[in-house]
Amino acid sequence: MSSQARHALATQASRRLSRRALGRSLAVATLGASVWPRTAFSRSEAVKAVAIGDVQPLRLGSNENPYGPGPAALEALRASLGEANRYPFAFTSQLREALATFHDVGRDGVVVAPGSGEILRATTLAFTSSSHGLVTAAPTFEAPSRTAAEIGAPIQAVPVQRSGALDLIAMAARAERAGLVFVCNPNNPTGGISSAEAVAELVARVRRTAPDAVILVDEAYYEYVEDRSYATAIRLTRADPRVIVSRTFSKIHGMAGLRVGYAIAHPDTLSAVEQHLARNGLSNASAAASLASLGDQEHLARQRALNREARAFTRQACEGAGYRVLASEANFLMVDLGRDAATVQAMCREAGVAIARPFPPLRTHARISIGTMDEMRRAMEIMLPILADPASARYEGVAGTAEWQGEC
Ligand SMILES: Cc1ncc(COP(=O)(O)O)c(C=O)c1O
Repeated sequence: MSSQARHALATQASRRLSRRALGRSLAVATLGASVWPRTAFSRSEAVKAVAIGDVQPLRLGSNENPYGPGPAALEALRASLGEANRYPFAFTSQLREALATFHDVGRDGVVVAPGSGEILRATTLAFTSSSHGLVTAAPTFEAPSRTAAEIGAPIQAVPVQRSGALDLIAMAARAERAGLVFVCNPNNPTGGISSAEAVAELVARVRRTAPDAVILVDEAYYEYVEDRSYATAIRLTRADPRVIVSRTFSKIHGMAGLRVGYAIAHPDTLSAVEQHLARNGLSNASAAASLASLGDQEHLARQRALNREARAFTRQACEGAGYRVLASEANFLMVDLGRDAATVQAMCREAGVAIARPFPPLRTHARISIGTMDEMRRAMEIMLPILADPASARYEGVAGTAEWQGEC
């Protein structure tokens, strides 16, 4: 693609709304629909502006579900607005009970939180300290290591294998003085899974040297997995009170903006986690939508199929262009570009495709979230010519943007 064409795409993708107009409309929006301004721009435009900021690239950087909540969740969301004046006790309690039933655990075996990132943060606060550190992977989801760093807990980050898979044996070997072992399964950002057998083996190994260490298995992408060797670690929580499983409504449920996550474990372990969670962190709207989405398995199956199709297309396009793509069972792919991924990320961003920040130590790999089929076609049309451009192979020492500090 010529640089002119790329520029045209970038311009088209970044149709700007003036910051002043946006600010004016948002200020008025807080006053309510009845005084919505006739002057600035329409309500739907403003809502769109709230959602996208003032630039709209293809958003393939945060592992979000491009389709959003399913019909049942949307209906529940609308209905919940009638209860906006009420505290969320009833909805939250119903959600907790539904999750307990769904996972066949007792009611006290579940806690909910505004996003599973909160569960990871609270769990790290509960179980790590300057004497009991964190064992994690590199790269993996960084919420636990960020929290551990904040409180001065030692961190052992075990490099993933070349395939992108977690090295669970090496992680278990480092656990002797650990307060918490973090296992992300599937692993973000590499995408692959650890088998049920390998996770059970990790737990057994850790128990030999660190009987009290908590093992947190993050299953944020659980519902996307189709590999038969995979299974949830929830069954391990029944036998081992110090295993915690976290899940989220942000991924396949399509509700990242509603902020709902939860943990399953022994009640005593969860009550230690709860000490670090805000009380009443969910809203009626988020709890009601989650409850409905939990019951909408048809929607989830459809999301899984759509993701599988668009992921296969993207893999084929990248591999066809000569790049190694790591195994993935999630809604993103990690592609080895063989060059500085930060430079490529900046070039893609300029051309209208937002992919993820680099994840050290895999500095030549780019993580591409899977959007709709149409989005992935457009993304490949933009990205592959950029990769073919020798400029993308020149390291330009691109500085981190604020976005890179995001946690997805
Ligand atoms: C592996 C993993 N865990 C947890 C989270 C946090 O998700 P949320 O706080 O939206 O539930 C993410 C978000 O991308 C993730 O990738």
